[in-house]
Amino acid sequence: MSLGELKVFKLEGDSKVEKTLTMKWVQKEELDNLYDFMVRNYNMLENKETFLLQPKEEMFEPFQRAGKILGLYDEENNIVAQRYLVLLDKYNPELMDDIKLSSSERKDIIYLKSILVDRAYTGNKLQYRTLEIVKDILAKRGYYKYMSTISPFNTFSLNNALKGGLQIRGLVKKYPNEENVDGVWRYINYLDIRSSNKMANENIEVDRLDIDTQIELMSKGYIGKQLTEDRERIVYDRLPTEKKIVC
Ligand SMILES: CC(C)(COP(=O)(O)OP(=O)(O)OC[C@H]1O[C@@H](n2cnc3c(N)ncnc32)[C@H](O)[C@@H]1OP(=O)(O)O)[C@@H](O)C(=O)NCCC(=O)NCCS
Repeated sequence: MSLGELKVFKLEGDSKVEKTLTMKWVQKEELDNLYDFMVRNYNMLENKETFLLQPKEEMFEPFQRAGKILGLYDEENNIVAQRYLVLLDKYNPELMDDIKLSSSERKDIIYLKSILVDRAYTGNKLQYRTLEIVKDILAKRGYYKYMSTISPFNTFSLNNALKGGLQIRGLVKKYPNEENVDGVWRYINYLDIRSSNKMANENIEVDRLDIDTQIELMSKGYIGKQLTEDRERIVYDRLPTEKKIVC
């Protein structure tokens, strides 16, 4: 069933051609096809560290258990983008410990597992737009909280996530493998769309590759809220300290 349409531009040679994409939840029978799409596009990525390509079974195990994948389809019904969602407590619950999430916040969090957009369609803000769409759809079903992990090298993703309200709450090594036995650095992002917390506006800018300073700031309660315009630094801020009556 169609969830709606999106107007986009497709890069064809040197020109951009207007197209309409249809949004649908990906069905189980389409997973082989979707995996081919992932592999094709992964192979074209300059920085392979930005997207975690797991073996097929492992990739879709969380989908089978507790996931949904939003697919964007072109006019010939080919998948040209995917956004993968999983219930966090069924897939990556340790992320909540990584950012010391309070017990009252731990229920019903959606983990934004991955997003991938065909290179001919990047530049249409599909990462940001699909997040807004997902937020709307899932709020109607009672889901308001999101988490994701993002590489400090992935400026496209970082920019889109921060714009969508997914603030940086942690920076931790994740996903160890043979090449990176300790894992790779990942920001841990969190959003509660119902939260109306105002920040203190201290605005401390830190190079996004300066891991130590960022970890130290976060240990003091700072939260990463946006990228600078040149996309090199993260702006950290914190919630206002509570005013107390001192006698
Ligand atoms: C992250 C991603 C989904 C963002 O796609 P998007 O929503 O289309 O990105 P934006 O519209 O914000 O793109 C902003 C600019 O970056 C460019 N851009 C985006 N992705 C790009 C890529 N993979 N390679 C080169 N340039 C890219 C766009 O063309 C655009 O340039 P412009 O402003 O000159 O037009 C996409 O880059 C992607 O699929 N990356 C690979 C997988 C990945 O890293 N996923 C996230 C972690 S799971």
